[in-house]
Amino acid sequence: MIEGVIGKDEIGTAARTATWDVAIVGAGYVGVPLARVFADAGRRVLLVDVVQQTVDALNRGESHIEDVPAEVLEPLVRNGLVSATANYDLLRDADAILIALPTPLSPQREPDLSIVRIAAEGIAARLRAGHLVVLESTTYPGTTREVVLPILERSGLRVGRDFNLAFSPERVDPGNTHYQTRNVPKIVGGVTEACTARAAALYASAIETVHPVSSPEAAELTKLLENIFRSVNIALVNELAQLCERMGIDFWEVIDAASTKPFGFMRFEPGPGLGGHCIPVDPFYLTWKAREYGFYTEFIELAGKVNENMPYYCRSLISQALNHGLERSLKGSRILVLGVAYKADIGDIRESPALKLIELLRKAGADVSFHDPHVPRLERLGLDSAELDPGAYDCVAIVTAHSSIDYRDVVDRARVVVDFRNATGEAGTISPNVWKL
Ligand SMILES: NC(=O)c1ccc[n+]([C@@H]2O[C@H](COP(=O)([O-])OP(=O)(O)OC[C@H]3O[C@@H](n4cnc5c(N)ncnc54)[C@H](O)[C@@H]3O)[C@@H](O)[C@H]2O)c1
Repeated sequence: MIEGVIGKDEIGTAARTATWDVAIVGAGYVGVPLARVFADAGRRVLLVDVVQQTVDALNRGESHIEDVPAEVLEPLVRNGLVSATANYDLLRDADAILIALPTPLSPQREPDLSIVRIAAEGIAARLRAGHLVVLESTTYPGTTREVVLPILERSGLRVGRDFNLAFSPERVDPGNTHYQTRNVPKIVGGVTEACTARAAALYASAIETVHPVSSPEAAELTKLLENIFRSVNIALVNELAQLCERMGIDFWEVIDAASTKPFGFMRFEPGPGLGGHCIPVDPFYLTWKAREYGFYTEFIELAGKVNENMPYYCRSLISQALNHGLERSLKGSRILVLGVAYKADIGDIRESPALKLIELLRKAGADVSFHDPHVPRLERLGLDSAELDPGAYDCVAIVTAHSSIDYRDVVDRARVVVDFRNATGEAGTISPNVWKL
């Protein structure tokens, strides 16, 4: 279903003779689930990635993305609906090219669009009349028109006349079994009305609801608004959790109580800090762009400050728990960090606050191990996931609350538990060896 009224122009000019209906550049957390929904709808999809190992594995039907397991991917590959390549030349044989590439921050926390730029150059060299190009990577308003469009037009082809260009933000929530790419409404904003209409029609062939907006800039900012909304609200509850610790109030009880209000309140929970590719990174894309307009995005900066301080605050909570519970200092204590993925029930460790916390604990002289059923090894820290033996440590710090863990058992066997996720629930509230955020 396409919501609202879209352009009156013709939809699409591409001949229906291309080998691939859709090519997706970037076979990662966004690209692979997207390939799956198009293939499920009977569309022929080509995944394009620079890592040959990833390409080879995908072509064997093996998946590195938990949301698209091998048993789902393999039949799609076998039936010729999904294929992968490292060869950009094959883009010529696709009707539409979707870009799902990383958009990180530089060490100075400024937008780093180098990956998108390089890919756009690679696409421009293969662009042909009739192509539809859609950028899906999260980025600041203006990227599609000011960065991608000029690169594509170096081909000599003109947008609206020879090819179509749009922005459509990916909203995938890894690990969410209810809301997946197919049933999360897709926002689409094209450079021209015809671009919007063509992109909307493509997505409507595979995704339940498509919501067109009037420009790429509106679509780009929509995604940032969603992520900034989360970052600011998480910062709010993180700040209040710290106040509640001083006031001796159980903040989790307060959140549960406030959540009974059927309107005007949305539940957010405190935690050890932000993680993942999106929420810690994306808001600063807008901060950077806003400066061009002499504008300071103070909510974003303040939320970043509060959230980035959380691993430091969590280290101090562990220190206090060891002092009071065992009369021990952090130095020399054995600590098990339970859960290191950035969120529950997935294995993604990008920007995970657990990594920062482990580094801080090590700096303070603690002997740190971790257990995570989804993460076998932390290469950067040189650690393998240890057995879950809570009694073998001075303190178990619950950083990510994977649902497969028996937290009652952890509370029963551990000497001291510090619970940053309220995973221990009722047991944690009544047990004297549990400290909660
Ligand atoms: N992961 C999420 O939950 C999520 C959710 C919504 C939006 N996004 C946004 O989507 C975009 C992509 O994120 P992701 O999580 O899928 O990234 P990812 O790191 O999982 O995947 C990116 C893939 O692109 C490949 N790649 C790198 N350079 C390439 C190039 N020049 N040509 C072809 N392939 C190349 C990499 O090898 C990798 O496989 C980002 O802008 C991100 O902010 C991510």
